[in-house]
Amino acid sequence: MPIRQEDHLMPLDPNEKIRVLAVAGARPNFMKIAPLMHEFARRPDRFEPVLVHTGQHYDKAMSESFFEDLGIPQPDVNLGVGSGSHGQQTAQVLMKIEELLIERRPHAVLVVGDVNSTIAAALAAVKLDIPVAHVEAGLRSWDRKMPEEINRVLTDSVSHWLFTTEPSAEENLLREGVAPEKIHFVGNVMIDTLLAHQERARELDTLARLGLSPHSYAVLTLHRPSNVDSAERLIRLFEVLGRLNKELPVIFPIHPRTAHAIEANLGGLKPDLHLTDPLGYLDFLRLLTDAQMVLTDSGGIQEETTALGVPCLTLRNSTERPVTVTEGTNRIVGTDPAAIETAIADLRNGPAGEKNGRRPALWDGRAAARIVDILERDFSERELDKV
Ligand code: UD1
Repeated sequence: MPIRQEDHLMPLDPNEKIRVLAVAGARPNFMKIAPLMHEFARRPDRFEPVLVHTGQHYDKAMSESFFEDLGIPQPDVNLGVGSGSHGQQTAQVLMKIEELLIERRPHAVLVVGDVNSTIAAALAAVKLDIPVAHVEAGLRSWDRKMPEEINRVLTDSVSHWLFTTEPSAEENLLREGVAPEKIHFVGNVMIDTLLAHQERARELDTLARLGLSPHSYAVLTLHRPSNVDSAERLIRLFEVLGRLNKELPVIFPIHPRTAHAIEANLGGLKPDLHLTDPLGYLDFLRLLTDAQMVLTDSGGIQEETTALGVPCLTLRNSTERPVTVTEGTNRIVGTDPAAIETAIADLRNGPAGEKNGRRPALWDGRAAARIVDILERDFSERELDKV
């Protein structure tokens, strides 16, 4: 029996704009919020967006550079929560955003993805009876040891609109008892951003700056606690990747969490890879576009490589984004060095190892427009003269 939440959309005065408070906090949120902010800006007569940056990520390379590259408006408010344990970080966002919601009284709160800022903002909103829109709802890795899985399940359970990127998400939500009318398959806002910036990225001299030529290098990203917080696992991963690096340069932009883990756990040992600081969005997109292969434990990069048709080996035991495997170029390889080595060899040894992926349905650059259409429709149906 589907769970039906109270229909708590506030009636709107027809002359009143729809106040949406949009929340972003960590790097993968910024490319998701960007096309939504652009879409609100195209409809100034209907929407009055308020952009809140929680401050979960705060380094220039992890935050500000994305606002610049993607033309995201300056946040109206920055909560400045910074780093901390999961409990501290989530609690800080919850407390600070609650105050803001009481002050601003938005008609809806829009959250994206699965980071700590996502669940904290959603929880604060729903307790104040403000409806929550969750963009990228319904993804499940079935691995409750991932902090993001907890964030996904909890955020979905309190959301009024569940905007999904792929068919598995709808199946998961229905199985969890979410009412079908709350689920909207709209496509992928992260791919909206990728398609909008592909041409600009192509013009960059990123490869020349890094001394690379197209299709002659690999890209690596690693930041999941399950991979980087254990010294033993990190050393084993670096051994196998170091061997690849002898044949094919492996470019490794280092996430701050990984940099800390290397510093703290590996006693000064430097991986035998081409290390760089975290890259900006456009440089990283340029790098992905012409990579021979990508090795990653990120969620978003599995989707970006699928959209680009670039082979991706995911160094995790599960994915919450199965469409990247069934339709895209992604393979779930796990973290066992022998399995990684075999998968790399399959790819290196030619066409048999390569997957000819296709771009999944509705990953067409129009997801943000579909989302904002639905919000506009739902609020318009509730204007005061119609209730
Ligand atoms: C967070 C998200 C993860 C996402 C990742 C992308 C959660 C639970 N995790 O993980 O889903 O894939 O962002 O980057 O929300 N740090 C800095 N500068 C910064 C930000 C972080 O130095 O600007 C360092 C701090 O030491 C911090 C650590 O990185 O303690 C981890 O940051 P945190 O936001 O807690 O989680 P991420 O690992 O970045």
